[in-house]
Amino acid sequence: MLKSDYKIVFISLLLILLNSCSEIKEEKKFVIGFAQCCNDAWRDVMNSEMQRELSFHPEIDFQFRKSDGDSREQIRHINELIENGIDLLMVAPNEAEPLTPIIEEVYQSGIPVVLIDRKTESELYTAYIGANNYEIGRMAADYIGTTFKENAQIIEIQLVMSISPAIERHRGFIDALSKYPKLKILNSFEITWDLDYFDKSFPDTLNKYPDANIIFAHTDLLAERAHKIARKYGRADSLLFVGIDGIPGTGRGIQAVEDGILDASMLYPTGGGEAIRLAISILNNLPYEKENTLETIVIDEANARILHNQMKKVFSLQENIDEQLQVLNTYKLDSRMQRIFIFVLVSSLILAVILGLSLRKSLLINKAALRDLEFKNQEITKSESRLIKMSEKVKSATQAKIDFFTNVSHEFRTPLTLILGFTDDILPSKVINKGIQQSLKLIHQNAHRLLRLVNQLMDFRKVESNQMTLRASENDLISFIKNVMESFSSAAERRGIDFVLLTRFDQLDLWFDIGMMDKVLFNLLSNAFKFTPDGGKIHISISEDKFDDKVTVIVEDSGTGLSKTDASRIFEPFFQGENQQMLGTGLGLSLSKSLVEMHAGEISVQSSSGKGSRFIVSLPFGKKHLDQTQIISDSKQVASGEMYTENTWAFETKEDEIENGNAGQQILLIEDNKDIQEFLKNKLSNSFQLVQAYDGKDGLDKAKELIPDLVISDIMLPSMDGLEITRALKTDLRTSHIPIILLSARSSIDHQIEGMNTGADAYITKPFNVQFLFAKIKSLLLNRQVLKESFGNHIKSHEIEFGVLDLQEDISPIDLEFLQKFNSYIYQNYTRQEFQVTDLCEELNLSRSQLYRKVKALIGEGISDYIQRVRLSKAEELLIEGKLSVSDIAYTVGYSSPDYFSTVFRSKYGTSPSAFRKNH
Ligand code: FRU
Repeated sequence: MLKSDYKIVFISLLLILLNSCSEIKEEKKFVIGFAQCCNDAWRDVMNSEMQRELSFHPEIDFQFRKSDGDSREQIRHINELIENGIDLLMVAPNEAEPLTPIIEEVYQSGIPVVLIDRKTESELYTAYIGANNYEIGRMAADYIGTTFKENAQIIEIQLVMSISPAIERHRGFIDALSKYPKLKILNSFEITWDLDYFDKSFPDTLNKYPDANIIFAHTDLLAERAHKIARKYGRADSLLFVGIDGIPGTGRGIQAVEDGILDASMLYPTGGGEAIRLAISILNNLPYEKENTLETIVIDEANARILHNQMKKVFSLQENIDEQLQVLNTYKLDSRMQRIFIFVLVSSLILAVILGLSLRKSLLINKAALRDLEFKNQEITKSESRLIKMSEKVKSATQAKIDFFTNVSHEFRTPLTLILGFTDDILPSKVINKGIQQSLKLIHQNAHRLLRLVNQLMDFRKVESNQMTLRASENDLISFIKNVMESFSSAAERRGIDFVLLTRFDQLDLWFDIGMMDKVLFNLLSNAFKFTPDGGKIHISISEDKFDDKVTVIVEDSGTGLSKTDASRIFEPFFQGENQQMLGTGLGLSLSKSLVEMHAGEISVQSSSGKGSRFIVSLPFGKKHLDQTQIISDSKQVASGEMYTENTWAFETKEDEIENGNAGQQILLIEDNKDIQEFLKNKLSNSFQLVQAYDGKDGLDKAKELIPDLVISDIMLPSMDGLEITRALKTDLRTSHIPIILLSARSSIDHQIEGMNTGADAYITKPFNVQFLFAKIKSLLLNRQVLKESFGNHIKSHEIEFGVLDLQEDISPIDLEFLQKFNSYIYQNYTRQEFQVTDLCEELNLSRSQLYRKVKALIGEGISDYIQRVRLSKAEELLIEGKLSVSDIAYTVGYSSPDYFSTVFRSKYGTSPSAFRKNH
């Protein structure tokens, strides 16, 4: 929400609050102050009339003060009311003269003044309401004059003559008396504020005038008190009592007339209700009279009862009205509460609308801001994608270059294979002279160097594209380093370099990828040898850091060293240092760093120009830093090409050995490169029967057709690659037993593992060493031989009996299954004289020649020979057992005649069956 919206909500809330409060208080439009002069029954009637009337006027705030006949107190009350800020003053002035100044003052200040029942000495008031006291005085005289025909001797009991009614009543009475000559005032007795004084002194006045026969008192109360005193003095019956006021209600004036205590009372109406109505008219600027005279009557025995009854009815009506008013008030309260509730409800609604509107407004503002942001974001995204495209272009251009170099490098590997193959081949020859041998070594070394660079570039690509995976096994670091050092030992010797390994360990087991670490160490040593002058030193030290649980290998040389800048950038790819004469690819150290880091290790350099360099490699112990996929469980490392690349001419395998034992064995060579075909043909055809295929499909067909003893296949081939061929051969019952050697330029461990996973028996990377290839061929064929012999030895009677084989040798599941089927069928049928090889061919779903070659390859003998062996083996057992005759045994083991059995037995055992039995 915005700041302005908060303001709106705040103001709305304030207004609602104020409104609610004013609703609860009820709106008071006018304040009326009333100063009542005294406290008596007549005034009680007046006060309650006022209250009743006010109930109909909730808009009036009525402030009431009552002074007990004390003018000074009343003046104080008036001042108080004025201070309260009244809109109109109602006052029944206690005494005329003392109250005149204050009332004039109020009037003159602009506040309307309503005089009730009594007056001041001034005309400065707004209105007067009350009966005409002068007329009342006259009325009293008239009543006495007309009802009392005799001479009337009157005692007048006056109110305090400082109050206006007393003065006027007296005046009216005197004036009217003049009409009646028989009436005479004997005495005018003025009371004091203290009524006890009246009770004490009036008896004297009464006694003083024994002829008095009329008591005229200014109020009924005074008349009744006089009656009481007169009765005390036995004068009550001889006196006529006339009073003023005629207050309704029990024990009051009207009842006193009714009861005969008073002879008459001049009704002096209280006029409370009328006074309020008059004040409200004035406040509302409605027309009003200044002098409002209330009607009066004479109450005597003739009308007192009726009046009393009527007054009673009026009272009950008034009570009724009061009750109704009370009910009304509760309704009013309820309705007020309801109004407040509705008001709050409506206010909340309005507030909600206001909030909703302001929310909408801020939403719109937000939306606009969002649009703005969106637009800016789009702009940023656009420029971002422009940048990305540009960088992608740059990246793909770089990529294309690297790919080109990689591809070219890849292409180098086959010719390098040939060069290294030829040199490997010629170098050991004793017929070439030393000079040529020296040149050949140089060719070999340089071809080898080139190959290493090619390999580095390809490794770098792999690291870059995250295709390089770690294959760690637990190896002895000491012997590993010693092995690598071997490759450099002759160079060290030749150049007089102090090349030693410094360590206190004889053996130190560490988990690492041999291929990778071989590259790292080879690289560090190549560099050291490159930059160290003849006669210098190259030391390798191995130490253990027990605290960090790691091993540190330091390669330290006394070579040219590195400048500070070179040292700080030496591990960056393609970095060319200041030593321009020694330029390399700039990849070796960067690659080494990546390979070390893949082992969770670190590599660093300490060097200074002219003082040699120290390359420090630290590698963690244990295998916690390796995940499961990085661990080779059987610790069998697949041979890396690199490990066989140095000094390969020292390889000792003799071709003659192979030739001698393997002549006549068939090898299928699947290779699309004619040079390699030619090269290998020259090498292999002397020892083996070589069959050549130039593409994948042709190779597979030939393998299925000929069932060769061994297959050598390239991986990259037209029409079908080497991996597919391997898979097809290894899953086909006819060919599954054939050992396969995969030959490939793809030297990565992953490729080798992929090749091995298809079921290949060996994986040799190009460039390969031909002696190594021979050795591999030899070992695979030898394995087969061992298997055959092992199988042959297993053919014991109990195995025949159960038709099962329990070969633990290195045999594929498919071949094991084949042998089990084959053996079990023979066991079930060899006792049948008509049992033939064709039955087996049908059973195993192979052609005769396929079955022959398969069986020959697996068990090393022909099928008939094998069946013969099984039959003879069982016969041998039966002969020793001695239960059956020789002819019975002949038939039992499946021979058609005992003579034929004897011939066959003799050829195998060199003795007749019966002679054999005798000897055993
Ligand atoms: C009551 C009273 C009445 C009398 C009136 C005159 O206070 O004395 O009895 O009629 O005042 O103002």
